[in-house]
Amino acid sequence: MNQIKSILKITIFLSVLNVSTSICPLDNIIENNSKIFDLTYVYPEDMHGWFSPANKRNLKKFIDAINPRKVIEIGTWLGVSAIFMAKLLSPNAELFCIDPWVPYHDMDNMPECQERLKNAYERFLSNCIHHEVTHKIIPIRMKSIDAYKSYFTQITDIDLIYIDGSHAENDVYDDIMHWRQTLSPTGIICGDDYGWPSVRKAVLRVAEISETELHIDDNFWWFGTY
Ligand SMILES: C[S@@+](CC[C@H](N)C(=O)[O-])C[C@H]1O[C@@H](n2cnc3c(N)ncnc32)[C@H](O)[C@@H]1O
Repeated sequence: MNQIKSILKITIFLSVLNVSTSICPLDNIIENNSKIFDLTYVYPEDMHGWFSPANKRNLKKFIDAINPRKVIEIGTWLGVSAIFMAKLLSPNAELFCIDPWVPYHDMDNMPECQERLKNAYERFLSNCIHHEVTHKIIPIRMKSIDAYKSYFTQITDIDLIYIDGSHAENDVYDDIMHWRQTLSPTGIICGDDYGWPSVRKAVLRVAEISETELHIDDNFWWFGTY
């Protein structure tokens, strides 16, 4: 009887220990991240993308001002904007790049994307290797809302979010409404393509119900104090 009691106690102790040491799913991703860049073939550098001067100057302004430790990019493609930000971030910062890297309807009529779409993810990883930013970049190969639901519902310390994923009105609206919940109190949420009617409608819908002010610079929009 005593032996059974001892076994029971040990089992309970071990299960408690297991709960207290279990790590959150996002930590698992971070822990295994370096393996993602172990490619069997590294593509030549290919910095094809969409990243305008207004986006560059404002993202640089934010990074210089707040020195963000945790950054999210939604819509990465081959990494032009991600690599730009990664180079400005401090060495211990983390930039989560969220993109399913699968064929996407906005690119149907862009011949320059068709060949690249066959291996866009591997080209993005290769670009990160060429630019020596793999230690700061954490790719998450999912649609943004799925990534949010899988890994970020408990996260509230993101400093900067840059949205350049799906440009459909409801997707942009859902991205802003979900992802802004992960921001730290001083965090900034911003994005590209304010010139697209669908993006503009979504951003203005958020502005109507938002306490923070909407700012526009050319095609770039943001909510925050900067
Ligand atoms: C305009 S490109 C991004 C350009 C990139 N920021 C640059 O600097 O070149 C849009 C990207 O959004 C991605 N995307 C489309 N729908 C998405 C979604 N629901 N969640 C995350 N990414 C998405 C596409 O796969 C594509 O790579």
